[in-house]
Amino acid sequence: MNQKAWWKESVIYQIYPRSFKDSNKDGIGDLQGIIQQLDYLKYLGIDVIWLCPFYPSPNVDNGYDISDYTAISPEFGTMNDFEELVSQMKQRNLRLIIDLVANHCSNLHPWFQEARKSKDNFYRNYFIWHEGENGQPPNDWQSFFGGNAWTYNEATSDYYLHLFTPAQPDFNWDYKLLRSEIYRIMRFWLDKGVDGFRMDVISFISKQDISTSLQNSSQGIAEFYANGAKVHDYLQEMHEEVLRHYDVMTVGEGAGVKAEVAPLYVGSDRQELNMIFHFEHTSIDRDPKNFWQGVDWELSDLKIILNRWDAALAGKGWSSIYLGNHDLPRIVSRFGNDGEYRVISAKMLATLLLTLRGTPYLYQGDEIGMTNYPFTSIDEFRDVVSINAYITAKQQGESWQSFLNNQLQVARDHARTPMQWDNSKNAAFSVGRPWINVNPNYEEINAAQVIVDPNSIFNYYKQLIQLRKKLPVLIYGDYTMLDISHPYIYAYLRTDSQHKVLILLNFLPQNITVDLSSYLSDDDKLLISNYQELGQRGTELVLRPYEANIYSSCI
Ligand code: GLC
Ligand code: CA
Repeated sequence: MNQKAWWKESVIYQIYPRSFKDSNKDGIGDLQGIIQQLDYLKYLGIDVIWLCPFYPSPNVDNGYDISDYTAISPEFGTMNDFEELVSQMKQRNLRLIIDLVANHCSNLHPWFQEARKSKDNFYRNYFIWHEGENGQPPNDWQSFFGGNAWTYNEATSDYYLHLFTPAQPDFNWDYKLLRSEIYRIMRFWLDKGVDGFRMDVISFISKQDISTSLQNSSQGIAEFYANGAKVHDYLQEMHEEVLRHYDVMTVGEGAGVKAEVAPLYVGSDRQELNMIFHFEHTSIDRDPKNFWQGVDWELSDLKIILNRWDAALAGKGWSSIYLGNHDLPRIVSRFGNDGEYRVISAKMLATLLLTLRGTPYLYQGDEIGMTNYPFTSIDEFRDVVSINAYITAKQQGESWQSFLNNQLQVARDHARTPMQWDNSKNAAFSVGRPWINVNPNYEEINAAQVIVDPNSIFNYYKQLIQLRKKLPVLIYGDYTMLDISHPYIYAYLRTDSQHKVLILLNFLPQNITVDLSSYLSDDDKLLISNYQELGQRGTELVLRPYEANIYSSCI
């Protein structure tokens, strides 16, 4: 099972192109901007870039509403720029995976423009249509981004399904011709030299029966839509038709996928996907019935969930490890502390990310400790989710303060503010006016500053990435949690037949004394810590606020 693979040994860096680096002064990050920063990424030590959508799009959902699958959005550059990016990456021995948004397209995609014209249009079956019920939508399914999931179409006098905004009609995967189009698109990019795909909400491609009611279900909305009856048939077909012919990696966005069924998607004997992103740990501070409503979280939930997932896949498949992405708040603000302990706690989270069993995915800006944005006005938001939530809040008479407090916790735009390169104007993201405000803390938090500081978050990430490469036990070794019931300490071992590594993390902003003498022997040396000065180590160990230590006798 622990068969070696390049994608197991890789560290993946996610780029949200709109916010990474603008090369032509229009305030929007672009492909040439990414090319300019490849040396930065190489220096950090990552192996693979996951590039979020860069295709032509009306941008209702920032590129996750695609109107042409085999072209480059003029905002981001040209096909030549893309080819240059691929070749510049190959020269640096970096791999590229791209976002495949195959559950839905844009309502401005020619297929949908055609399909909506008449019931006998050639493209009709590319989408999902249904008659209404007494002038109402066919059933009570809700969209993830607010409102009913069906929208009426005048010309055909019926409704089309969209699990996201009405501008994102869902594809009908039961239609063979549609599936062949997706496979053709995949081959197009693979033949251009990409090394795999991150598959947007791939767990939703096979739909539930139209007669099922969302309201009457005990499941959350994502669980309700996920794992449709045919999803595995389609993924196996995709593997057979496309993936197995290339040396590539795949990671599916596994919204609504529970640990028990995860091996069906990523089991090494299944010929489906290599990895999925599950949502369980990134939902611990969300209302189970409403992902966009924040609640408090506890470390014990995080530990239990990560443990359950590791156990579910052990010996069967491979995990993806992530703490943040373009849909989530900044990790240091969410799971760490973005005030006094920003640097220390960001390093503690880096330690977790790089030492759990699975392939780590690092989101742009986390390596420099970027934080949530201090929103104060609705004009600062760009995301359709926040704007829709604002409209609903107003309709329901919710106060501005209560709306804002929730957004300060859950907004996706926290992660979408521009990358902070240095302390010059607009953090050197763009010399034009950025499409979304730069976080005002860029003068203090920026890449130029952390690269030169040997004790920075960036240099700590760099060291951890090197340590992972030096110690295969951190990649292929077993994972065993210690002291699962401890409310503030996360401690675990990574072991193989010859090596043992102990990882100790304190999730509190205060000292905690732990007795781990039975796990730590005199031979075990401290390999790396997020504190410069050695802590006290006797039979007991005093962990300082957010302290993270890795011990081993292997080197
Ligand atoms: C995924 C993407 C998210 C997008 C949604 C709809 O969750 O990560 O950004 O809004 O799918 O495509
Ligand atoms: Ca630009």
